[in-house]
Amino acid sequence: MLKQESKVIQTAKSLLYDRALVKLDNSFVGAIAAIALQPEPDLNYTEVFIRDNVPVMIYLLLEGKSEIVRHFLEMCLELQSHDFPTTGVFPTSFTEINGEIKVDYGQRAIGRVCSVDASLWWTILAYVYVQWTKDEAWALSFKVQSGLEKLIDLILQPSFRDAPTLYVPDGAFMIDRPLDVWGTPLEIQVLLYGALKSAIALMALPGKNQDEASTQETLGLQKIKKIKVGINWLKQLRSYLLKHYWLNGNIVQTLRKRPTEQYGEAVINEYNIQTETIPNWLQSWLKNQGGYLIGNIRTGRPDFRFFSLGNCLGAIFDVTSYSQQLAFFRFLITNQNELCAEMPLRICHPPLEENRWKYFTGYDRKNLPWSYHNGGHWPCLFWFLVVAVLRQKEISPDAKNPSEILEIEALLNKNYELLLYRLPKQKWAEYFDGPTGLWVGQQARTYQTWTIVGLLLVHHFLNFPEDSHILSLPSLKFFHDLELRLG
Ligand code: GLC
Repeated sequence: MLKQESKVIQTAKSLLYDRALVKLDNSFVGAIAAIALQPEPDLNYTEVFIRDNVPVMIYLLLEGKSEIVRHFLEMCLELQSHDFPTTGVFPTSFTEINGEIKVDYGQRAIGRVCSVDASLWWTILAYVYVQWTKDEAWALSFKVQSGLEKLIDLILQPSFRDAPTLYVPDGAFMIDRPLDVWGTPLEIQVLLYGALKSAIALMALPGKNQDEASTQETLGLQKIKKIKVGINWLKQLRSYLLKHYWLNGNIVQTLRKRPTEQYGEAVINEYNIQTETIPNWLQSWLKNQGGYLIGNIRTGRPDFRFFSLGNCLGAIFDVTSYSQQLAFFRFLITNQNELCAEMPLRICHPPLEENRWKYFTGYDRKNLPWSYHNGGHWPCLFWFLVVAVLRQKEISPDAKNPSEILEIEALLNKNYELLLYRLPKQKWAEYFDGPTGLWVGQQARTYQTWTIVGLLLVHHFLNFPEDSHILSLPSLKFFHDLELRLG
C-alpha cells in the first residue's frame, strides 16, 4: 500500500471507530449518519439510520467485529413496531435522548416520509450476519423468528393490486424526498427480492438437514404456508422485473411498436404505455451498448431514469442473469463520463429539470437539477458497484474473463484513486453537485459516515475480492429444493 493511501485509510478507520460509532448500554450499537462538528444535534444526522448502517455493518463483519453487528440487529428488532398500522415495520432511524430511545417510523421525518427500505435491509443484513458468522443459534431464537414472521406478514398481505411488486409512496428509500419515485420504484423491488430470499432462508433454518416429514413437523403448517407463498412470490417478482424493467437497445425498438388499448389476459402492452413516453435521451444514453433496469413501471407512466443503487443491487442479488450483468457493466463503461465523472456514482440520470422539477419535487431546493438525489453524485454508492463486479469475477476465476469485466475492473481502480484523492480533501462530504460531480453538495454534511465507510469497503474488496460474496444470497435452486422438501 502506498504511503498516502495507507494514511487515508487509517484516517477513515479512526473516524469510524473513534467518532462515528456510538454506544448504548455500554456497547457499540451502530454509527451516526454524520459526525457532528458542533455539539447541537444536526436535524437527524446524529441518529443511527438503518440504511446508513448497512455499509458499516458489512465492514464490521469483514473486520471480525460481529458482536457489534449482532447488537445493532437486536436493537433494531426491539424497535420493530408492535402497533397498528405499522406492525412489523423497522424504524428509519433511532437515537437516545435523555436515557430514552426515540424512534422514527416516519412520524418525525421531514415531510413525514416513511422508509420502506429499512425493514427490507434489516432482513438482508440478518441473513448476511448469520451466513458470515454461522451464528445459527441467533437466527433460530424466538425473537428473530417471530420478527421475521411479522415482517413477512406485513409484506405478503392481501391487497388491491395483482402484481408481485411492493407499492410505496414517494421518497420511501434512500431517496427520501419527493422525486416522482412513488409506486413500484426499482430500489424497493430489488430490496424486496433480497429480503424475501433472506427471510425465507432464515425462516426455514429450523428444518435444515431434515427429511420431508421431520421438516413439516419442526416448522409447522402455518409457517410452511408462509414460506411457500414467499417462494412463489419471489419467483414471480423476478420474472416480472425482467419482463417489465430490463431495457436494452433492441427492447426499445420493440416497445416503440407496441399496440395500445388492449384488454384481457394475453396482451403485449399490459400497462397501456404510449410510444411517446419513451424519452429521446435514451438514444444517446443507451445506444446499442448494454442494458439496465429502468426506474419504475406504472400504468401509462413508466420511469426510464437510471438509478445506480437499484441496478447494482439487481446484479448483486442476481435479479439479473449473468449475461444481463455483463450488459449492465458494458452500459456503465459506455456512460462512465456521466455516471462516474469527477465523483462516482451519480445517483440517478437524468435529473428532473424546469417544470418537471417544479411539479414533481414541489420546488424542492435541496433537489435542484444536478443536486442531491436529483442527479447528484454520491461516493457512498461506489462500493456496491465494486461488489457487483468482483463477485462475478470470483465465480469463475479460472475462466477467461470477458472484456466487460476487465474494462470495468480498470474503471474500479481508476475511481478508487479518485475517491482516495478527493474524499479527505473534501472532508468526506455526503454528496457532490453539478453534471460532473466536481462541486461539494450545496447542503452536504461533512464527515458523512457512509462516505467514510464506503471508501474503506472499496479498499477492502479490491484487496480481498474473494470477500465480495458476503452479500450473495441463496440461489433460486436453493428455493426450488426447499419447496420439494416442504412437500
Ligand atoms: C438523507 C438521505 C438519506 C440518508 C439520511 C442520513 O436524508 O437522503 O438517504 O439515510 O440523509 O444520512
